[in-house]
This record gives sequence, structure tokens and C-alpha cells, in this order.
Amino acid sequence: MQDDGPSSAGAITTAAHDDRNQWTSRVGVILAVAGSAVGLGNFLRFPGQAAENGGGAFMIPYFIAFLFLGIPICWAEWTMGRMGGKMGHHSSPAIYGAVAGSRGWRYMGSLGVLIPIVIYMYYVVIEAWCLGYALAYLTGSIDLGSDPALYSEQSAAFFGNFVGIESNGFTSNGSIDTSFLLWGFVFAINFFLIYRGVSKGIEAFCKIAVPLMAVCAVIVLVRVLTLGTPNPELPDQNVLNGLGFMWNPKPMSGSESWLASLADPDIWLAATGQIFFSMSVGFGIIINYASYLKRDKDVVLTGLTASTTNEFFEVCLAGLITIPAAFIFLGAAGTTGGTFGIGFNALPIVFLHMPGGSFFGFLWFFMLFLAAITSSLSMLQPGIAFLEEGLDIDRNKSVTLLGLLTAAGSLFVVYNSKGLAALDTMDFWVGTAMIFVLATLQVILYGWVLGIEKGVEETKRGAELTLPSIFGFVIKYVSPVYLLSIFGLWCFNAMPGYVKGLAQGGVPLMTVGVIGAVLILFLFLVRVAGNRWDAQEAGGQR
Ligand code: ALA
Repeated sequence: MQDDGPSSAGAITTAAHDDRNQWTSRVGVILAVAGSAVGLGNFLRFPGQAAENGGGAFMIPYFIAFLFLGIPICWAEWTMGRMGGKMGHHSSPAIYGAVAGSRGWRYMGSLGVLIPIVIYMYYVVIEAWCLGYALAYLTGSIDLGSDPALYSEQSAAFFGNFVGIESNGFTSNGSIDTSFLLWGFVFAINFFLIYRGVSKGIEAFCKIAVPLMAVCAVIVLVRVLTLGTPNPELPDQNVLNGLGFMWNPKPMSGSESWLASLADPDIWLAATGQIFFSMSVGFGIIINYASYLKRDKDVVLTGLTASTTNEFFEVCLAGLITIPAAFIFLGAAGTTGGTFGIGFNALPIVFLHMPGGSFFGFLWFFMLFLAAITSSLSMLQPGIAFLEEGLDIDRNKSVTLLGLLTAAGSLFVVYNSKGLAALDTMDFWVGTAMIFVLATLQVILYGWVLGIEKGVEETKRGAELTLPSIFGFVIKYVSPVYLLSIFGLWCFNAMPGYVKGLAQGGVPLMTVGVIGAVLILFLFLVRVAGNRWDAQEAGGQR
């Protein structure tokens, strides 16, 4: 026993349990988790996915995935996170190891640190674009010319120049890219806030940003819903038809009817991937945030409130704005560009046509920026927590180390902007594939390793809402079978194409190399941390 000496456990307690590392209120934690969930996935990815995958038909697999995967896994994450927090742990490797009572699970938990960190590397780049577009509206520097026939081309060119889609590098025409400067600024804000800690940084910021984001979104929504029929020469392009275009079930290409589309695995893959990305489930974030809950605090109602808030932003706000607005001004053709095409190419044309468009354009992109920053902050905290408790270092050092690592990875993404190759590769391998893997691991850990009876009992502790009795059955049997089938299908459908792409080398292969290097680094750090935790346990300090 090392009772009277300076112990590592004591150091963890100091680093991880100081006042900055506890949520101060129920509202604060809900807003922080909702802020983490509501992001670019809600406002850009969801409309793109829904438009491409059958509109209203997409919502059937979407809500099934929400009920049978999203909500149950989210409750499991909340529960395991709170359990870990009670044992003095805040990072996935430590929590997985403690919940499973096995060292091997610590290594699997390294994914819960890697995923948010790598997603941060590209997410912060898009966050900077959003701020850049907001500023461009504020200063009037978005110029799409005066010929409506060329708007689409001009808008694509503006975006291409802004992000450097034609060539790699940090400069163009001899001067530093604006998007690069903005990236530096946005990166610094993230680290300033994360340095302030869980309560003074994340919680305090989300308490302002999430309501502000809701106000901005509602103002834009009211504008879109009151557009009527802006061009009398195109009477079909009106609000009702815009909403119908988004929400009426449509057959996917190659299907005879929308019902037949439901037999297409792609729609199920897309819906499940969207639920995970949007709810930040399988990211390693919820488990970390839940670890800062006080002992015996409710996780059932809190988790459900944060998830439904996320759905409100996604379905009721984003779902009524993006595609209907694009349809009203540009017709069906304006809704087909996918995430970036709709967000950064089509919407600027929409704002150009819209009365008061500069103001609404600013509001929209500023709202996107707020949505993105409350999410990106949550991607940093799991890494900070791991470095602090794994390496026994203080916040200054953990913030510096994580800053250096993420800056290097993010600069790689900014530099390799040609065709957005690095960004797309990270989004595929980490923002899609690894999330499925981590979600599956979590379900197994909760339902099978911890054991469903113990898990459910733990979830119910302090619950302010009755846990549905079907929950245990769903998380133990339905979720894993569902996940493994979807993941299997997805590997079968999408993986060969991506592997073939990688075989051609170039930036995608280098990007996978970067991801692999980060993974090796974290596996190594988990080993170092594990030795420390073992020594503490042997010393009887936990
Ligand atoms: N959940 C976050 C989003 O939707 C990552 O953008």
C-alpha cells in the first residue's frame, strides 16, 4: 500500500475529478450531449441521405434503427460511462477494462479514443468552411455573378476555390488560403474551450450555443416555410411540394415502388449509418461524457432527452429546411448533390434567390458553425481524459499533446484538399466503418460481458423514467444481430470498391496509413496506461 506517498491514483483523482471535470447541472449535461450529437450530420448529412434514399421511405429504416440500435446503445453507453466514472475512470480504454474486468478490453477501448480524434481531424476542417461561409455572407463576398444559367457553376467554383479542391497545399496564387487561416482560428477556439474543462468549457459553451443554434434554425425554418411560390412561372416549385419532395416516400433508383426499395440493403445501411453518426453513438463520446455524471444520477431520462433533442433538430428542423428550400428554388435537380453539394453548392444559390438571402445565408452557416463546434469539442474530451488518466499528466500537458497530434492530422487533411481525398477517406474508414465496429463492441460488452441482468440493474439505478422491459432483450439479442447483419452487408457492398481504390495508392492509401499510425500510437499508450492502472490496482488504491 502506498497510502502516505504521492500515488498515481491520487494524481488521477486530481486531474480527472477537479471541479472543471464534473457537470454542474442536469440541463448542462443534456445540452452538452445534445450539442455533441447535433452537428453537421443533422443539417448536411441527413438531408443528403434522405433525398438520395427514397425520402419518406428512408424514414422507415431510419426510425427502426433509432429504436433498436440508437436508443438502446446510447443507454448502454451512458450506463457504462457512469459506472466507469464511479470507479474514477473517464476514458474508454479504462472503462472497458473495468466494466469487463479484463485487460484485453482496454485495447478494444482504444477505438473509443481513436474514433473521435480522427473524426475531429476532418470535422474541424468542415467547421472552418461553415465559419468562412458565414463570414462571406456577412461581408458580402459570395458573388455568383448575374447570369442565373451560371449560378450553379459559379457556386461550385466558389466552393472549389475556397477549399482548394483542384490542388493540394496551403496556398494558392502565392497567398495563404483563407480556409487555411480560418482552420487555424477554429482549431484554436476548440482547444481554448477544451482547456477550460468539462464544466467551464464544454458545458458553459453549450448552454449558450445550443439554444442560439435552435433560434437561428427556427428563424431560417420560418423563412423557408413562408416562401410560398417565389417564382410564379414555376408554380410547382412551392413550399408544399418542397415538403412533399422531402417527405413523400419515393422509390430508389432501380426499384419499382417505394415499398420495393425497402428490400434494398443500401437504404438500411444508409439509415443505420446516419443514426450512429448523428447521435454520436459508437463514437466513444457518450461513454466519456457520462463518466462525469455524479453517482446515481439518472441516465435513462437524460439519455432519452438528449437523443430526442437530436432527432428534433434533425427531422423537424433540418428535414424541413434544406431539401424543401433547394427544391423550391432549384427543383428536384438542386437536391441531388449529396452532403457537400447541397450544403455548399445548392444552398448559396437558394440564398441568392431568397428575399433577405444574405441575412439568412449568414444565419444558416453561423448555425452550422455552432452545431459543428459543440460536436467537435466532444470529440476532443475523450482523448484529453485518456491522456490524463493513462499517462498521469495534467490538463496543460494533455491539451498540448492532443493539440499537436490533432493539428498534425488535421493539417494533413487541409493540405491534401485535392478532390477532398483525405477527408473522404477518413470519413469512410473511421466516420463510417469503425463506428459500426465500436457500436458492436459496446453491445457485446454490455449485453454479454457485463451481463444483461447486471447491466439493466445498473441502467435502472437512479432512473427517472421506467426502462422499457423489452430493453434487455433488444440490447442482448436484437441489436447485435441487427448490427452484425448490417455491417456484414455493408462490408460486402461497399468494402471491395474502397479496397480497390486504396490499391491505387496516393492520398487515400496515405490517409489509411495516418489512421493506422494513430491506432498503433493509441494501442501503445493503452499498454503504458494499463501497466500504470495494474500497478495501482496491485497497490489496492482503487
Ligand atoms: N453527431 C455529430 C454530427 O451529427 C458528429 O455531426
